[in-house]
This record gives sequence, C-alpha cells and structure tokens, in this order.
Amino acid sequence: MAVDPVYIELIRQGDIVAFPTETVYGLGADAWNPSAIQKVFETKGRPSDNPLIVHVSGPDQIADFAVDVPKEAQQLIETFWPGPLTIIFKKRKEVLDAVTAGLDTVAIRMPDHPLALEFIAATAPLVAPSANTSGKPSPTRAEHVREDFGEDFPVIDGGATKVGVESTVVDLADDDPAILRPGSISRKEIEEVLGTDIQETFFHNERPRSPGQKYSHYKPKALVKWYEGENLNEPSTLFLLQDSDVKAPNVIIYSGDLDRLARELYDRFRQADHEGYLSISIQRLSPDSSNVAPALIDRIERALSYK
Ligand code: TXA
Ligand code: MG
Repeated sequence: MAVDPVYIELIRQGDIVAFPTETVYGLGADAWNPSAIQKVFETKGRPSDNPLIVHVSGPDQIADFAVDVPKEAQQLIETFWPGPLTIIFKKRKEVLDAVTAGLDTVAIRMPDHPLALEFIAATAPLVAPSANTSGKPSPTRAEHVREDFGEDFPVIDGGATKVGVESTVVDLADDDPAILRPGSISRKEIEEVLGTDIQETFFHNERPRSPGQKYSHYKPKALVKWYEGENLNEPSTLFLLQDSDVKAPNVIIYSGDLDRLARELYDRFRQADHEGYLSISIQRLSPDSSNVAPALIDRIERALSYK
C-alpha cells in the first residue's frame, strides 16, 4: 500500500489530511463528518458560503450524494473520469449543509491520481478544497501545503501535480448547463461530448453560480501584471514569457508550452515571494491557443494586482 495507514487513521478519527490530486493538493475531510469539515473551513480561513467538492474513488459513490445522474453527466463521466472535471448535481437531502454551503446542489469529482484514489477508497468520499490558506495560490507540491499550514501538517507527498490548475467545474443541475470555472478540460471538449453548445458563465440572476468565483484568490505578495514590453533587465521582476532571446534567472521562457505554464504557475508565484521579487510580469495569452489557456487567463486575471 502506498498511502501510509497513519493518514487513513487520521481521516477515520475525524481529522484532516492534505493529499495530491492531478490538479492541485486537496485538504481532505470525511464528507459525512461535520466537525472534520468545520476543521477544513477553520484551517483554510475559508468563507462559509463557499461550497466544497466531494471527491469520490468511483462513479458508484455519486448515488450517495446526488438525486440522479443525468444522461449528459453520464457521458462526461465516461469520457473524462477519473480526471479534472467537477460536475454539479442536484443533491440528496442527507448531504451536509457544510459541504454545499446550503445550496441544493453538490459538486463531485473523481481525481486522476493513484494516491488520491487509494486514499478515498480506504476512507470515505472526501471533501477537498485546495490545501492552501484562503487567498493564497493553490498548492502544487507538498512543500506548499507545509508553507501554509506548518511543517508538521499531515500531507501525503505525491510530488509535483501534473495539471497545476484546479478542475473545470460544469453545472448540469440547472436547466441551462454551464461551465462555472474553466480548467484544463476545455469548453470545446465538453461540447463535443455533449453534442451541444454550452455557456461559460460565472453569474446567474446576478448571483455567482459558483460562490468561489466571486473571490479574488491566487494572489502572491508580488504584484502580478500582464507583460507590456518592460525592460527585461529589471531584476526585481520575474518574467514569464513565450519568447525572448534574453537568458537571465528572472526570465522564464515557455515557447507556447501552456501545459507547462499551468503546471508551474502557482509554484512561480510562490517562488517569486521566496526570492523577493516585487512583481511578476506574464505575457498575454490568447484564449484559443490551447485547451488550458482559458483556465490560465482566469487564474492570472484573478491574481492581477490592479483588479
Ligand atoms: O481541482 C480541484 O477542483 C481542486 C482539487 C483539490 O480537487 N479542488 C478545488 O476546490 O479547487 P476549491 O474548494 O478550492 O474550489 C471549489 C470550487 C469553488 O469555486 C466552489 O464555489 C465551487 O467549486 N463549488 C463547489 N460546490 C458547488 C456547487 N454546489 N455549486 C456551484 N459551485 C460549487
Ligand atoms: Mg481553492
């Protein structure tokens, strides 16, 4: 067994444990234990109106949380699970209010990570927000979790995560299906499976459909801005660019590899703070340049210092 039984025992006792997923590290608690979930909110300093995603180790566990699995959800599950796609369902009344922040829907995903799947299978479906202090960049390494919650915090170390930005959130519980949070699974990929167009919206009747989307999030201390052709010799700025001839420790070149930028973005945010950079300047991206581009633009826009 790859997961240390100590962590399994902690969850069984109602404690919280951070674990890796393919996107970012999650802060796990038994989805049926109210006091464990309370610890998640307290540890993160998370606003109580922001609902949590239930992480399952197989689609058979959905039935404990959702009243039904619509045909469209079934199609998405067959194509994308396990993987970085969270689906919103109409919830069963037994689901704890602390999980859904009082909404009548519940968010569920099956992560594509062997340690996560083993951990959930050995314990219970786990709620797992990103394992960072609220407002900080999501953790993509175990060290990031320890940075936020302390050296002794229980975290299952799976190394660096392979996607790096949080899952796509799609809402099929409403009459008009919508993507509530872009991720590495693109709107186009989802539309191809469903055979229909789907809107991308954060608001519904002027209320955020996904409460988390109203928070700015993801901010390092360094000022994040879009690159406007500044002088690359400015040593107090970390540059994340697509092309440049300049070779310097503060200039990182991605050459169109946006999957790598997604994998590294939050680590670069944290690196900038460790190394004392005052700002991070990122070359603008076109939303249709890759599947993950809209998610990157969303996360960078939320981190921009002038918003
Ligand atoms: O990739 C991920 O999804 C990561 C890893 C750990 O799995 N988790 C994650 O969780 O990003 P968190 O809590 O940081 O973000 C969950 C998002 C929030 O924007 C929240 O508002 C939204 O999902 N959400 C959860 N339940 C919802 C619901 N019933 N209706 C609408 N939005 C919901
Ligand atoms: Mg988060």
